[in-house]
Amino acid sequence: MRYAQTQPISVNVRKYFASVAMSCGITLDHGCGVGRHFFYLTELGIDTYGFDFSEKLIKHAREDAIQRYGPVYPADERLKVGNMFHLSELYPPHEFYTILSWAVLYECDFDGIVIALEGIERALKPGGYFFVMMRIGDPPHDSCIIRSEGGWSVTKEANGTIRTYFKSIAFSEQLKRFGFSIEKQYLRFAYGSKKQAFGQEFLFRKK
Ligand SMILES: C[S@@+](CC[C@H](N)C(=O)[O-])C[C@H]1O[C@@H](n2cnc3c(N)ncnc32)[C@H](O)[C@@H]1O
Repeated sequence: MRYAQTQPISVNVRKYFASVAMSCGITLDHGCGVGRHFFYLTELGIDTYGFDFSEKLIKHAREDAIQRYGPVYPADERLKVGNMFHLSELYPPHEFYTILSWAVLYECDFDGIVIALEGIERALKPGGYFFVMMRIGDPPHDSCIIRSEGGWSVTKEANGTIRTYFKSIAFSEQLKRFGFSIEKQYLRFAYGSKKQAFGQEFLFRKK
């Protein structure tokens, strides 16, 4: 299972949430998979919700939550099946203080990212934070590029997976269009064996 529970939580995620844990308010694990970050944050004492479009992964996460916190834990309310393109159907506006989106937002084409960002902007409180990990840099040499503009390229893999790769500045520019300021851009880490693209974490703040 990709991004299973055992994958370590990044040091930057740990530092960010340690610094805001006491004042964090409600947090959303956006595309939570089996709930790696959801459980980490819940166990830090942060009021956390999560969603993912995979019914299988949410079922797994709900069962895990019941195991950890007991049968009265409201797992169905905390962990929902849903699509990042329809975030407004899942949560009211201005609900979250932080939205964490780790290795999710690039799993669609450019237009999908714009729709997902609209949903994120709506769901965050004014002054709220958006912590995101994206693939930054050039797609692997052997990828099939189906769309490309100055700052980004969309690829389609043999199994049909669509991914968008941004240049770092172009990604920040998109966020600025939605009224976010950049608070932190963390050091990159190599992604996979081909090393053209990097995983990069960013912290943005909604005005
Ligand atoms: C690489 S995994 C990362 C999971 C989790 N964020 C983590 O770090 O452990 C990507 C996740 O994004 C979810 N996902 C992809 N597209 C989505 C969409 N349109 N709406 C909701 N979830 C989506 C997948 O089901 C998968 O669980």
